Amino acid sequence: MNAYLKIDHVDKSFERGGQKTEVLKDVTLTIGKGEFVSIIGHSGCGKSTLLNLIAGLTRVSAGAVLLENAEVNAPGPERAVVFQNHSLLPWLSVYENVSLAVSKVFAGRKTKAEKHDWVMRNLDLVQMGHAKDKRPSEISGGMKQRVGIARALAMEPKILLLDEPFGALDALTRAHLQDAVMEIHARLGNTMVMITHDVDEAVLLSDRIVMMTNGPAARIGEVLDVPIPRPRHRIALAADRTYLKSREAVLKFLYERHRFVEAAE
Ligand SMILES: Nc1ncnc2c1ncn2[C@@H]1O[C@H](COP(=O)(O)OP(=O)(O)OP(=O)(O)O)[C@@H](O)[C@H]1O
Ligand SMILES: [Mg+2]
Repeated sequence: MNAYLKIDHVDKSFERGGQKTEVLKDVTLTIGKGEFVSIIGHSGCGKSTLLNLIAGLTRVSAGAVLLENAEVNAPGPERAVVFQNHSLLPWLSVYENVSLAVSKVFAGRKTKAEKHDWVMRNLDLVQMGHAKDKRPSEISGGMKQRVGIARALAMEPKILLLDEPFGALDALTRAHLQDAVMEIHARLGNTMVMITHDVDEAVLLSDRIVMMTNGPAARIGEVLDVPIPRPRHRIALAADRTYLKSREAVLKFLYERHRFVEAAE
């Protein structure tokens, strides 16, 4: 596999008032171009911290994050993040929320008309073109999340980073959006790294599942390959042997070998 994104012996600790908390210890992971990788682990183990390091929102304490051999040490449009709580600007319309990002990223590279087409193309990709003039307060949680995904995709990121993107949604909306993300991934072939708590979601969407041990000083415990051919259909998979075996492997890791311990520190 080509090392598109490389997390190389990364440690991360936070210091406050002279007290040091070691969150991640010696995390090494290589992700190939176009791969869909999920990160799963118990609450507080350091998943968001790891994603933020890839996003460049926080700096490593030791080791390095490399994207196409260049060190990541600041946020950039080539690594777009979709957060769990849709982070749209409430005073802007759906269209304006996406167009703000497009204007920034494509300043001087696209004409006004091209930018408009691009905003609409990305809104249509998540089936939100019809709601372009609505404000975030006028649309549902699932719709806001779709706009967040459109905004991230519109930046044409090399890597799309998703931090529990569907966590706050009901099961039905969640299923729709999972399908939408699979379709986008198939169509654009982009690299995606997604954090989730949901074992079924991880197996359905991922090429590989990275399982993290409990913190403090969390590590990568295991990496599971999910060799299920694409396109994947949730109903057909319900009885698929590889699907069931993968699911079992993740459940065993999380609930037998690395059970959540309250107040692990
Ligand atoms: N900026 C910060 N300063 C100090 N400690 C932090 C900071 N960010 C995260 N932590 C600590 O790092 C640990 C991991 O947090 P993180 O948010 O990465 O966990 P997580 O795996 O994403 O959890 P969840 O599943 O609940 O979202 C926690 O103990 C948290 O308190
Ligand atoms: Mg988190």
